[in-house]
This record gives sequence, structure tokens and C-alpha cells, in this order.
Amino acid sequence: MRAKRKLVFAANWKMHKSPAQAQQFIEEFRSHWPEILARPQVEVVLFPPAVAASLVAATLRDSPVQWGAQNTYFEKEGAFTGENSPAVMAELGARYVLVGHSERRALFGEADPLLAKKVAAIQSLGLIPLLCVGETLKEREAGTTREVLSGQLREGLTCADFQKPLAIAYEPVWAIGTGRVATPDLAEAAHTLLRDLLAQLANLTIAQQTPILYGGSAKPDNVGALIEQPSVDGFLVGGASLDPHLFAQLCRVALERLTA
Ligand code: PGA
Repeated sequence: MRAKRKLVFAANWKMHKSPAQAQQFIEEFRSHWPEILARPQVEVVLFPPAVAASLVAATLRDSPVQWGAQNTYFEKEGAFTGENSPAVMAELGARYVLVGHSERRALFGEADPLLAKKVAAIQSLGLIPLLCVGETLKEREAGTTREVLSGQLREGLTCADFQKPLAIAYEPVWAIGTGRVATPDLAEAAHTLLRDLLAQLANLTIAQQTPILYGGSAKPDNVGALIEQPSVDGFLVGGASLDPHLFAQLCRVALERLTA
């Protein structure tokens, strides 16, 4: 039986969409909201590129759909050329910030100690960090998945305030953008491991309340089986979130499976 946690459908647009394209997406996505958001405890979150944040914020104002930043620095302001302030994202009305997406880790060298500072800064501003963890194919094949996931979660949450909201995304690196999705059993095993560790780091109630999303080639044809797993609380969607109708279909398929 599924615990009473919220379900989160998150669209990670990565470095796609101009402000105008982001606005166009929202206009087209709007017709699907009544159906998707009719169920209580469902949250839809769009993660536009930073340059589109203020237009997305204005377009979504007073709407039931949330948005978040794909990345921020941990300082609020200062001499940090090229970075974005979490305080400005908060002022614009963001609800979430992604932290430690595997592309940030692999391509931009972001390591756990930095991510831990970001988690703390984001929480202190009243935003929800969505901390991403996941093993590479090499790590899975070497049998070190458990150590990798535990290490990333533990280190990333070193400075976390467990009295404030937090969300986690399990994103196996070998599944991101590859079309190779995790099996429901594999995803459930990873989510359970993460939830058990959260219970150790915080407590059982917090572990049960914290949404753990699955990410990595989530598509309308595979989310039904994944959402049936008791510990899968939604999806962080890359490729399939770029089209408003495909993303809406993905949300609908998962929600229908839960109410079937
Ligand atoms: P994907 O990306 O759905 O295109 O695999 C997911 C992610 O990187 O968040």
C-alpha cells in the first residue's frame, strides 16, 4: 500500500527552451492541468533554464503548477561570475532547486561537499532541494551501487535541516537519456535503500514523508509499472518533458495506474 506522500512530476528541461519556448510550452500544457492536478497531493514542477526563470515565474503566477531552478550557487550574492543566486530564485517564486544532477557532477565537477552547502543554502531560503543521486554503469557492474548511493545521500545531506522539506531523485546515470530505463524492481530496491538511509540520518517519519522520484528515460510507456512500486513517488523527466502533450500523457498514465 502506498504511503501518503505527495507525488511529484518534474520536468527537467536541461539546456533546452528559450524564454519564448518555455512560455509556449506552458500555454499548451495548461489544458491538461485540471486532469493532472485533480488528485490531491500531486505536484507538477517545471525546471526551465535559468534565463527563462523570470518569464516562467510570471506565466505560472497564481497557477497550480510549480517551478524550480536547475542549479544555483550556495551564496546569495557576490563575486561569483556566471553563477545564479538561490535568493533570487526564491524571490522570483521558485519552489525547488535541483542539486547534484549527474550532469552537474560529471560535466561540471560538482562534488558532494559543494552539494551539501547548496542543500543547506536552499533550505535556509525556504526552497526545497531536490537532491539527485545515481550510480554509473561501471559502478553498477562493479557491484558498488549500494556504496555509491549511500555515500552520495549521506554526503549531500551533511548540512541538511531535516525539519525542512527535502526531495530526492534516484537517477541511475546509465538510464539518463539512453532509452534504457531501470526495471521496476531495480528502482524499488534503490528507493528503499535511500529511504532506509534517510530514516537513519533523520527519522522514520521524515523518511516516509520525503518524496523519492525516479529519473532516467521515464516515458509514458514505462512509468505505469514504475509508479506501482511503493517507494516510487514520481518522476524527474528529461527528454519526455520537452513536449507538453507527451509530458501530460506521462503524468496521466502514472496517475491512472494508481487509481486503477
Ligand atoms: P531523461 O533525463 O528523462 O532524458 O533520461 C532525466 C534527467 O536527466 O533528469
